[in-house]
Formats: sequence, C-alpha cells, structure tokens
Amino acid sequence: MSKFLIDRFSNLEPYVPGEQPKEKKYIKLNTNEAPYPPSPNVVDAIDKVVVAGLNLYCDPDTTKLTKIIADFYDVDFNEVFIGNGSDEVLALIMMAFVDEKTKVCFPDITYGFYRVFSKSFDLDAKEVPLKDDFTIDINDYINCGRNIIIANPNAPTGLVLTHEEIEKILISNQDRVVVIDEAYVDFGSKSCIELLDKHPNLIVVQTFSKSRNLAGARIGFAIASKEIIEDLNKMKFSITPYNINTMSQIAGVESVKDNDYFEKCNNKVIATRERTKKELRKLGFRVTDSKTNFIFVTHDSISGKEYYSELRKHGILTRHFNDKRINEYVRISIGTDEEMDKVIEVTKKILYEAVNYNFVVGK
Ligand SMILES: Cc1ncc(COP(=O)(O)O)c(C=O)c1O
Repeated sequence: MSKFLIDRFSNLEPYVPGEQPKEKKYIKLNTNEAPYPPSPNVVDAIDKVVVAGLNLYCDPDTTKLTKIIADFYDVDFNEVFIGNGSDEVLALIMMAFVDEKTKVCFPDITYGFYRVFSKSFDLDAKEVPLKDDFTIDINDYINCGRNIIIANPNAPTGLVLTHEEIEKILISNQDRVVVIDEAYVDFGSKSCIELLDKHPNLIVVQTFSKSRNLAGARIGFAIASKEIIEDLNKMKFSITPYNINTMSQIAGVESVKDNDYFEKCNNKVIATRERTKKELRKLGFRVTDSKTNFIFVTHDSISGKEYYSELRKHGILTRHFNDKRINEYVRISIGTDEEMDKVIEVTKKILYEAVNYNFVVGK
C-alpha cells in the first residue's frame, strides 16, 4: 500500500475472482462461464469490425445493443441500461440509490460482490441470514426499510424465489429499490421483467456472461422504469461514458439475433446439469435444487475443502468458499457432457479413496 491511499480504502477487501489458470490445462468449472463458444455469427461480425471501426470511439449510447435487448424483452428503449458486465450495473445501482438514509440489505450467502461493493462505497449493509436449508425467508425483507438485492436464482445455492414471494417484498418496500439479479435466470427459472409494469421500485439485472456465452465481452444490463434508467445513465455519463467497447456491442447484438443458438446451448446446459445432479446423488451427495449453470454439492464422507482439492489435483477446477456456513460445499459449474463425465469418474475415485482412508483411521 502506498502512503497516498486514502484512509477510507485502507481496509478494502477486494473481490477475489475465481482462478483463471494460465499454465496448466484444467477442466475449468470454477466461474460459471458457458462451456460453449459464442454464436458463430458473433465471431464473423467481430472479424469485420476489427478492421473497420476501432479508430473511432464506441457508441456511448450503445444504441443497437440497447434496442435489440429492449425488443427481445418487449420493453422500451429507455427502460434498458447497459453496463460493463452486470458487476458495473450493480456498482452503479449501489452508487445511485444507497446512502446512509436508504441503506441496503442482501442475504448472508449470496454473490460476494454485494458485500465488496458495500465496503468499497462505505455503505450501511445488512446481511440477512438464509435459513438452514439455504432458502430465503421473505419475512426478513417485508417492510425492511432498506434497498434490497436478491440474486434469483441465488448463488452459490442455485435456489429460486417465486414471483409471488418477490412481489410481497416489492409491495412492502415501495420507497426503496428492489434489485433482482437474474444472472442465471435463463437456466430454467422465470424472469421478473414481467413484473415491471406493476412495480416501479423493481430493477431487474441480467448478464451476457452466462447464458449468452460472452463472459469475456463484459455485457450486463438493467431493465427498470425509465426514471431509474435515467438515473443510471446520469451515473454512467459522470464516470465512464464509453463503458461498452465497439467489439462487445457488436458481439452482444449478434448474440441476441441468434436466438436458436442461445436456446440450444442453454437447453444443453440444463440437461447436463440434471444428469450430473442425478449421478452425484447416486454417489451420496446432497445437491441443492439448482436452477443455474452450476451445482452446489456436499458429501458426508469428505469435507468440502478436501473434495475441492482432490478435484484440483485431478485437473478439475471448482469453487470452494471459506465461509463457515458453506465450507462443506463445493460449487461446480456445468461444463460439456464430456467434462461432467470426467467429474463423475474422478469423484468416484476420490470417494473410494476418502472412504477407505476414513475407514482405516477409524472415523
Ligand atoms: C449472481 C451474480 N451476479 C452478477 C455476476 C456478475 O456477472 P458479470 O459481471 O460477468 O455480468 C455474477 C458472476 O458470477 C453472479 O454470479
């Protein structure tokens, strides 16, 4: 730390991204990326633009991408805001709507960046414990008097709240924004976008990083009332007006155009997820009912940390969180069928060795 860093940031605890290995070749199931490449149309379109337009600034209004997203979700152009990944969208939402009066809350077990943003912006953030079964108790959020952020499906549990439950939260907190982070909604749950007409305090956030196979392009978006979107644009144009580069804007447009590819990839991920859940349950794992592109698993015969480390030794990267409520669990992103077959095969080996070992030492 230099002597110039201001006091407010001296205790900052930055987000720790999942490992992006450079040397060794792993089966990479640690950051919930898509296992399949982007639509071939994306690749063709970017090829052309690299030669054509990079001497000019990108479109600060992200006009084509905003329009195609608005059309896709059947909302108005001025109800869509695009950010550099949903991380940027979430950061701008926090900056725009949370202060010492309006405050914020979110589940204790959820996407780690909510906590990091709260610390970075020095916000009054309340972490609301999930129930023992990792579900959200909506009573904790009724009339809570704070802005609310809920990932739905939640991460890393993969569990979903119903629209009925979310509406209760929205209705009882009309003076605060309720952010529903739908990073994983395309893997089998229902978007809250259809609730926007009824609830002007709702902000739906989604990303192109998971179901649109474009994590590296950094595209996220919010859909909300035009007044909320205007506020977010005010923030963006005060900080980072050219937030989506030209190539990403084109990639985003082409990806939305190729809806067949989008659906085909997501259906494959869902089928692979359900098959993997079944196989792991047969091996004695408890697996949450994830509606995402990852599963969250635990086994009585091996600790979460050991299972994670053993998978890693066998060339499979997953995610283990050092949080005491979930440290017996491992989060495994859904890869291709071949990759998940390998996970099952290696897991059988690991379990056999772990159970034998435990037997020998008399556990
Ligand atoms: C729940 C949730 N929200 C948001 C994000 C951020 O996604 P991105 O910034 O890539 O759009 C993630 C990433 O893993 C996530 O799990």
